[in-house]
Formats: sequence, C-alpha cells, structure tokens
Amino acid sequence: MEQLGMLYEGKAKQVFLTDDPEKIVIHYKDTATAFNNIKKATIENKGVLNNAISSIIFRELGKAGVPTHYIGTLNDRDQVCRRVSIIPLEVIVRNIVAGSMAQRLGIEEGTQPSNTIIDICYKKDELGDPLINDHHAVALGLVTYGELDEIYRMTTRINEVLKSMFARMNIRLVDFKIEFGRTSDGEIVLADEVSPDTCRLWDMTTNEKLDKDRFRRDLGRVREAYEEILSRLKKITE
Ligand code: TMP
Ligand code: ASP
Repeated sequence: MEQLGMLYEGKAKQVFLTDDPEKIVIHYKDTATAFNNIKKATIENKGVLNNAISSIIFRELGKAGVPTHYIGTLNDRDQVCRRVSIIPLEVIVRNIVAGSMAQRLGIEEGTQPSNTIIDICYKKDELGDPLINDHHAVALGLVTYGELDEIYRMTTRINEVLKSMFARMNIRLVDFKIEFGRTSDGEIVLADEVSPDTCRLWDMTTNEKLDKDRFRRDLGRVREAYEEILSRLKKITE
C-alpha cells in the first residue's frame, strides 16, 4: 500500500489517501486545541501516545464485536483505516456529570446521574458544535432515524466495553466523545479516535484527572497523564 496526497487536515490529525480507494492513513500530530481552537499548544509526543492508545482501544472494541474503521497501526504516528465519510455528529456519552453539562445545567462536577446521558452535537466549527436532538439531526439531513437507532445501539455497547476496560485500569470513564462514519457500502462504523483527547478519565482512588482537561484547565503534567493511560492500557492488554 502506498501513501498518496493529504485528503484533510484536522486539529490533531492528518488524513492521507492511499493507492487503495477503500483505505486511508491517519497521522497523529502533537498539536492540542481546546474551546474550538481558541487555546492551542504543542504537547511533545502526544501524537505518538494517542496513536498507541487509540490503536489498543480500537482493537479491544473490535474484539468485542464493535465495527470500526481501524485496520492496523503502521508506525509511531500512523494508522491505516477504512475510508469512510464521517457523519458530522459528535456523540457524547456521560456516565458522570462534568464539563459542559455541569456548567449548562448548574450541576456540580462529579455528580453521579441516575442514568447514562447521550448528547449529540452538530459537528460544525463555525457554529461551535451546537448541542442538537434527533429531530434536528434528521432535519439537517445528517442521518435517518434508523441510522440514529443504530448509532445509539453501538454507542451503548461501546460505553459498556470502555467502562469495564477502564475499570480494570482503576480509571473511571467520566465521559467521552465518539464519531461514526459510513463505508462505501453504507455500513456505519466507529471512526475517528478514542484517547485522552476525547475522554474524561479519573483515577478511581485519587480522582486525579488523566486526560485533556489537564491542558484545558492548565493543570500541568499533560504528557505524563497520557503516558500513564498508555502504561495502564498495556498492562491489561499485553
Ligand atoms: P464537554 O463536557 O466539553 O461537552 O465534553 C464532553 C466529552 O467530549 C469530554 O470527554 C471531552 C470530549 N470532547 C471532545 O472530544 N471534543 C470536543 O470538541 C468537545 C467539546 C468535547
Ligand atoms: N477539540 C476541541 C477544540 O479544539 C475542543 C476540546 O476538546 O475541548 O477546540
């Protein structure tokens, strides 16, 4: 397989075409952004850490029967994945109240809700990824109601697999964001990445934050937190 020109550049990754029309290469960069690109920095080695972390997590999800875009890891910073068209929805699962939900609804961060919450946001930077509902998503032409059913079913399963995987690492999966894509034959698969950039991960014993909130909130030791996640993931999967 040969890597060809760049198809797309995002805030943390680049996507390249290959000589196989069904495959792309995803390259993980060291850049970090927060608050829709207002805060920017380079976190040395973040791309290497997130590539390794997301690769392990996608393999675990694959083993658990979740269809994903992941095919394999090429090197420190690159993965080969199925080419999909990304559905412009950010699907957020909240097991514990934190971040924007805590702020918007005036609930103390760390509160345990009685049920799991799934938010959907319209992925559009110019609008700041607004929170929407199912009817908006269908009216915007992003998905059908049938596809949403499938996305919620997959999301619930992904949450179960990830929650128990992180629990084995003594980590509480507070919340996370995922994205889905459609393959050329219309199958919906988990795409993008799952990493400390896209999850809130709290140590179960100390409540220490081991995720991108360390960068968003200037808590320091960002890279060390990502290294800790990779090291615990390796311990439970090797
Ligand atoms: P929020 O509390 O800011 O809505 O974030 C919820 C979860 O989604 C949290 O784990 C961080 C993740 N997230 C992203 O991965 N990308 C984003 O652009 C945002 C806003 C949140
Ligand atoms: N990734 C988003 C941004 O750049 C937000 C976030 O993760 O906080 O702005």
